[in-house]
Amino acid sequence: MSNPLTITINGSDYEVGSDVTATSRLANFLSANQLLGTTTTCYEGGCGACVVVATVPDPDTGTNRTFTVNSCLVPTLACVGWEITTIEALGNMYDGYHPIEMTLVKYSGTQCGWCTPGMVMSMHGLTQSKPNWTPQDVERQLDGSFCRCTGYRPILEAFKTITPQDIEEAGVKKCPSTGKACKGCCSGKVKKGDVTEAKKTTSPTRQLSTKAGNWHQPSTLQELFDILSSLADGTTYTLVSGNTGQAVYYDGPYSEYIYTRNIGELSNVTVAEDRVTFGANVSITRVIEELNTAAASLSGFSYASQLVELWNHLGNTAVRNLGGWAGNVAMKVAHHEFPSEIFTGLLAAEAVITTATPDGATTDHSMEELLAVDLVGEKRVILSMSLRMLADDVVFRTFKVMPRATNAKADVNAGFNIRVDTANAYTVQGTPIITFGGINASFVRATATETALANQSLQDENVLQGALAALASEVAPDNQPADASPEYRLALTQNLLYKTVLGILGDNVSPPISSGANNLERPLSSGTQTFETIPENYPVGMPMHKLEAPIQCSGEIDYIHKHPSLPGELYGVFLTSTQANAQIISIDPTPALAVPGVVDFIGVGDITGVNNINSMSWENAIEPLFPEDRVSYYGQPLGLVVAKDRGSAIAGKNAILVSYGDIQPPVLTIEQALQNPLPPGQFSPVIVGDVAAGFAASTKIVEGSMFRGGQYHFHLENQVTLAKPTDEGGLNVLSSSQWLSETQRSIAQVTGLSHGDVHVSCKRMGGAFGAKIDRCNMVAAAVGLAARKTRKPVRVQLDLHTNMTMIGGREPYLCSYKVGVDDAGLLQAVQVTLIADSGYAAIDISSDSAADTLPSCYSCANWEITPQFVLTNTAVTTWCRGPGVVEGIFFMENLMDHVATELGMDPLEFRQKNLIQDGANVRLGKQMVRLRHQLAGRQGPENIPTELHIPRNLINNMIDQILVTADVETRKAEIATFNQNNLWKKKGLSVMPQLYPYAVSPVYPFASLVSVNAADGSVTISHGGMESGQGINTKVAQIAAKELGIPLTTITIVPNDTHANANSKVTGGSVGSDIAGYNVGEACKLIKARIDAVKKEKGVKEATWQESVLLAFNNGVDISQRFINGPDEVKGYAIFGVSCTEVELDVLTGQFVVTRADILEDAGNSLSPLVDIGQIEGGFIMGQGLLTSERIVYDPTTGEKLTNSTWNYKPPFAMDIPADLRVTILQNAPNPIGIQSSKVTGEPPVCLSFSVAMALRQAVASARQDAGTTGWFQMNAPLTTDYLQRLCLVDTSRLTLS
Ligand SMILES: Cc1cc2nc3c(=O)[nH]c(=O)nc-3n(C[C@H](O)[C@H](O)[C@H](O)COP(=O)(O)OP(=O)(O)OC[C@H]3O[C@@H](n4cnc5c(N)ncnc54)[C@H](O)[C@@H]3O)c2cc1C
Ligand code: FES
Ligand code: FES
Repeated sequence: MSNPLTITINGSDYEVGSDVTATSRLANFLSANQLLGTTTTCYEGGCGACVVVATVPDPDTGTNRTFTVNSCLVPTLACVGWEITTIEALGNMYDGYHPIEMTLVKYSGTQCGWCTPGMVMSMHGLTQSKPNWTPQDVERQLDGSFCRCTGYRPILEAFKTITPQDIEEAGVKKCPSTGKACKGCCSGKVKKGDVTEAKKTTSPTRQLSTKAGNWHQPSTLQELFDILSSLADGTTYTLVSGNTGQAVYYDGPYSEYIYTRNIGELSNVTVAEDRVTFGANVSITRVIEELNTAAASLSGFSYASQLVELWNHLGNTAVRNLGGWAGNVAMKVAHHEFPSEIFTGLLAAEAVITTATPDGATTDHSMEELLAVDLVGEKRVILSMSLRMLADDVVFRTFKVMPRATNAKADVNAGFNIRVDTANAYTVQGTPIITFGGINASFVRATATETALANQSLQDENVLQGALAALASEVAPDNQPADASPEYRLALTQNLLYKTVLGILGDNVSPPISSGANNLERPLSSGTQTFETIPENYPVGMPMHKLEAPIQCSGEIDYIHKHPSLPGELYGVFLTSTQANAQIISIDPTPALAVPGVVDFIGVGDITGVNNINSMSWENAIEPLFPEDRVSYYGQPLGLVVAKDRGSAIAGKNAILVSYGDIQPPVLTIEQALQNPLPPGQFSPVIVGDVAAGFAASTKIVEGSMFRGGQYHFHLENQVTLAKPTDEGGLNVLSSSQWLSETQRSIAQVTGLSHGDVHVSCKRMGGAFGAKIDRCNMVAAAVGLAARKTRKPVRVQLDLHTNMTMIGGREPYLCSYKVGVDDAGLLQAVQVTLIADSGYAAIDISSDSAADTLPSCYSCANWEITPQFVLTNTAVTTWCRGPGVVEGIFFMENLMDHVATELGMDPLEFRQKNLIQDGANVRLGKQMVRLRHQLAGRQGPENIPTELHIPRNLINNMIDQILVTADVETRKAEIATFNQNNLWKKKGLSVMPQLYPYAVSPVYPFASLVSVNAADGSVTISHGGMESGQGINTKVAQIAAKELGIPLTTITIVPNDTHANANSKVTGGSVGSDIAGYNVGEACKLIKARIDAVKKEKGVKEATWQESVLLAFNNGVDISQRFINGPDEVKGYAIFGVSCTEVELDVLTGQFVVTRADILEDAGNSLSPLVDIGQIEGGFIMGQGLLTSERIVYDPTTGEKLTNSTWNYKPPFAMDIPADLRVTILQNAPNPIGIQSSKVTGEPPVCLSFSVAMALRQAVASARQDAGTTGWFQMNAPLTTDYLQRLCLVDTSRLTLS
C-alpha cells in the first residue's frame, strides 16, 4: 500500500505504523500515541473505563453515526476512515474544561478517577448521538460503566443536569469536529455529530499483512466472497464486524481477519409492508432503533417492542453500538451454550436468516436450522435477517433474568410467541413458540411444553400444570460451577411461563396472584445529601470537590502506567501455576528464552535475598515470592518472563514448560478445610464474663450459623510497579502501594538490598481498598528482583485475569453462634466462632479483629468469641475495606435478627432493648492495632489499648432520628399491606444501628513534610499517606490552608515517598486522612508560630502571607517543617451509624430492587462533607455487592478461580444502587478527640449495607410464609438472585391461577 494509513483522532491524523497488527486494539494505539487519558482495566468490554466516541461512516445511509465504543475491543485497523474522539478533545486545565467534566466535578462524581474519563466519554457519546436526551437515557447510557469508588449516585445526578444548551455553548469554545479550540475555520457550519466531508466515504478495499495475520477489508460482497474463495483449505479465518465477540469467546488466533463493516450490502435496513430486513453488519443499537419505529408505526409489529426490551438488556450500550446481531448469532452457532438474547428473541419471533456461500448461492434458514450449519467450514456468510409481521392475536413476551440489573449474561432468557383467542377462554391457537437460552448446549426450544399448550385454554389450571410438568421433563440445565444453579434455571423457565400466562389473563386472575405478571420496575434514581457546615472553620469542613477532580475528569491525571517508557525498559509477565496443590517437578524456561524479544526468566533461583515477600505476618508465616517445592493454589506466581515488549513476554510465558507431580485435590472451602485439624497459631478467644452462667440464666437459647463468601477488591487500576536500577546499584521504584515503606522492605528483603537502596514513591492509586497494603508486593518484589538481575528498568501491570486469579481478596467467613436471652428479651450470653479462610498462608487474617468488634453497639454481660482461621488452596486472602469489623458487625446483626425471630419480636425493638448505655466500654480490633503498631523490627505490640470507652452512645438518638426522617412506621405498615396483597412481589424494610470501634495504634507514624516556598509563599506537602480516591489530599490541604490561614490554591500536594516520608505506616483502616491531617496541621502550626514570632520581633503588624514568609526566610527562619505523630497523639473513638433500607423482591425470579436507603452517619464535624458523602455512598454500595451479587467460584477439581473476569464476577453497577439514596451526616456531633473534631468515614459505612440483607430477609420471609413455612431460616451471602429465589420456596404446585 503506497499511502500510509491514518486514523483521525480528535481532528488530527495519526499514522498507523507497522507495529499495528490485525489484532491490535484502539486502546493500545491511543496509548502508543501518548493519548493517555483513556484508561483500561478489563480488555473485555465489561468495565467501560476505555470508552471513547467514534464517528463512523454508515455505508447504508451514506451518513455518519456517532456513538460510544469500547476502545479495548475496536480493532485499530477498523478505525481507518473513522473519527475518534477521546477525552483529550473535551477540555483541560489550559484551555478550560468541558461542561460534562465540570458538572461531574461540581457533583463530586470522582474518587480514584480511573473510571472517570470513560464516564465522561459515555455521556459525551450520548450528547453527540441524540439532539435531546432524558434522564432515563442517561441512566441507560451508563449501563456498562463500572465505578468501584463512588456508588454512582453523584455521577448519575451530575449527568442528568446536563442539557443540550450546555453542550451547544461548549461548542462555541470547542470545535465539535476537531475537538480543539475553535478557530472559526468551520464558519459555524460544523454541528454536533457532523464530520468533515472527506470522512463520509467508506475506506477503499485494503489488504494488509501484519505480524498477527492478514487483514482484509472488502467493500463489496463480491470482494468478500472472492477473499473467502481464495483461502486454501485449512486456513484459519474470522469475519470481523464489531470484534466484540472475542471478549466472550476467544477462538483465535487466525491467519486471516476479514473486516466486513464497509460492505454496503451488509449494512442495509429495508422496511417493507410485511417485513423488516436487517443486513448482517447492522449494529444491535440500530436494530433496536429501527424496531422501536416499526413497533410504533407498522401494523403487525407491536411485538417488536418486546424484542427491544430484551435487547436493551444485552451487554451494555457501547457493546450494542459496536456489536452486530449477526456476530452474536454466529457466536451462538459456534458455541451452542451461549445464552444469546439475539438468538432467543429471533427464534421466538420466527425470524428468517439468509446466508450465502462464496459462490453467491443463498439459503434461507429458520433459527433452528441455522444452528446446524457449519458457518466457518462452509465459508458461509450471514447476509441478513428478516422479521415478519405477526398476527394480531399473538402475545409476544421476552425475559432476561440476570444476576444484576445491567451488563450481565443471562441466567436464563426467554421468548414466548403465543396466539391466544381471548374471547374463547383464552385458548391457544395452534402451537405456540417457547424459547429459552441459558439451559444447555442443545436446548433452545421447549417443544413438549408447546405441545402441552397447543389449542388449550390458558384459564385451565390443569393445562398450566401440564405445561409446567412438560417443562420439568424437557428442561435439563447443565451444571457449570460459575453459572446459576440448574435448580434455579429450571424454576426460572417455569416461572417465566407462569408470568407470561398471568400477563395474558390479566384481570382474570385474582390480584395477589397477578403481581407475578410484571417485572420489577426501578424508578429513576434520586438522592439527597444532608450535612451541616460551620463556615468559621473553613476551609476545614467546607463542601468542596476533591482537588484532583478536574484533572480526573479530563484524563490529565497521572497514574504509574502513564510514566513514559524508560530507555531499555523491559516488560514482565508472570508465569502462574495451573495446579492448585502439587509438587513442582520442573520449570523449563528454555523455550521462552528462544522467543524473539524475551530477555530473561526470573525464577526462584534468582532470589538474592530471602524468598518471603512479607516481613510481617501472623505467627511469622512465610509467603514466598515464588514457591520452591509445591504450588499451593491455581494462579500462584512461579516466575516472571521479561521481554522487550508485553506481547513477547506473553509469548515467552506461554512457551514455558512446567511439570507437576503428586497432584492432590485442592481444599477450596472452609468446610473442606475443617476436615483437617486447624493450623497452628490460632488466636485466643475473647472472653468477657461467663457464658455458661449467661446460658443458665437464659430462658431461650438460639443457635445457628452463616457463611459469607469473599470479595474481589476490584480496584480499577490493576497492580502495577515500575523499577529502575540506579547508578549506585539500588532501585528507584514506582509502585501502586498503600504502604510504601512495606513495599520498600519487601523489595529489600527479596533482593538483599538495604532499605536505603530501595527508594519507593507513588503519587496516587487508581483504587486500592486494601488490595495494595501488602498484596502489591507480590508484583513489586518480583519487579525489583527482575530489574536487579537484568540491570534494566522493568515494568509490570497485571491484566485483570491475572490480578483476579493471582491475588486474593476479602476472606470468606463461616460464623456459628449460640445466644442466650431472657424473657425480657435481654441478651444473657453470646458465644460465637468466626472462621476466616486465609488462603494458603496465614498472612493477613482478620478474624481476631472480627471477634473484638462483633459486639458493635450491643450490651451483654457474657461473651465468648473465638476467632479462627483455616488454610485452603487459594491465594492468600487479605484486608478489604473494614476488614474484620465488617465481618464482626454483619454476623452480629445476623444473630440479632435470628434471636428476634425466635422471640417473635420486632427486629428493631429487640435491638433497641440491647443497646449499650452511655459510659460503656467496647473492645477494639486487636488486628488493626497490631498491624498499626508494628515497627521495623518485628516486635509485637505491647501495652496496646484493647478497649474503647463510650462516654455517650449516640445510637438511641440516631435511631429516633431515622425513624422520623425515613418515615419508618408508616412504611412498615404499607409494606405489611403490600405483602398481604401480593403473592409474587415482596417488600422488606430494615433498620440497622452500628458502632464501629475505630482503632489507632499508640505508635503509628505518618511522616509529613510541609515546605513553604520563600519566593511566593506557595506550599508543598508530602504527607506520608496514599491517595487512592478517598480524598486524603483534599482533607490535608483543607487543614493546612486553615492552619496557615492561606487560600487552598496556594497548596500543592506532592507524591509520598520513602525518603521524605520514611517509615510511614499503611494508609488503611480509614486512618490515613486522620493521621496525615493531624501531622500536617501540627507542622503548619509550628511554621506559622515561627513566622508570627519573626513578625512580632520585627514589629510587623500588617503583612500578606507572601510578605510574612519572605520576612521569616530572610531572617534565617526555617519555613519548612516535618512532623510525625508521637505515641498516642492520635486516638481512636466510636463511630455510630444507622441505616434503613427497603427492597422489593420478585419472588418468581429472585431479582430485587433496593428501592430506598437512608443512611445516617456520624462523621463528627466532617472535614470535607462532599468527600465524606462519597465515602459513605461508595462504602455502602461496595458492601451491598459483597452481600448480594459478588460471588467467587472455584473449579472444584483444578482449583482454578472461575469468576476471574467482568463476564462472570458481578459487582453492583449504576442500576443496582438504591433507587432513592438519602445520606445524612449527623449534625451537632463534634468529636472532641478527633482531628479538627471530625470522624473517619472510609470504612464504617460498608457495615451499614447489612441492612440490605436484613430487608431481603424480610421479603423472603414473607414469601416463605405464603409457602407455609414460618420461622428462622439460614441466609448465607452473597444473596444472589439464584439463591434468593430458591430461599422463597416456590413450588410449581403453587403456580396457580386463583
Ligand atoms: C461486555 C460484553 C457483554 C455482552 N453481553 C451480552 C449479553 O448479555 N447477551 C448476548 O446475547 N450477548 C452479549 N454479548 C455478545 C455480543 O452481543 C456480541 O459480542 C456481538 O453481538 C457480536 O457482534 P460483533 O459484530 O462484534 O461480532 P464479531 O465479534 O465481529 O464476530 C463474532 C463472530 O461472528 C462471526 N461473524 C460476524 N459477522 C458474520 C457474518 N456476517 N457471517 C458469518 N459470521 C459472522 C465472526 O466470524 C466471529 O466468529 C456481550 C459482549 C460483550 C463484549
Ligand atoms: S477496558 Fe475496555 S471495557 Fe474494560
Ligand atoms: S472513581 Fe470510579 S473507579 Fe474510582
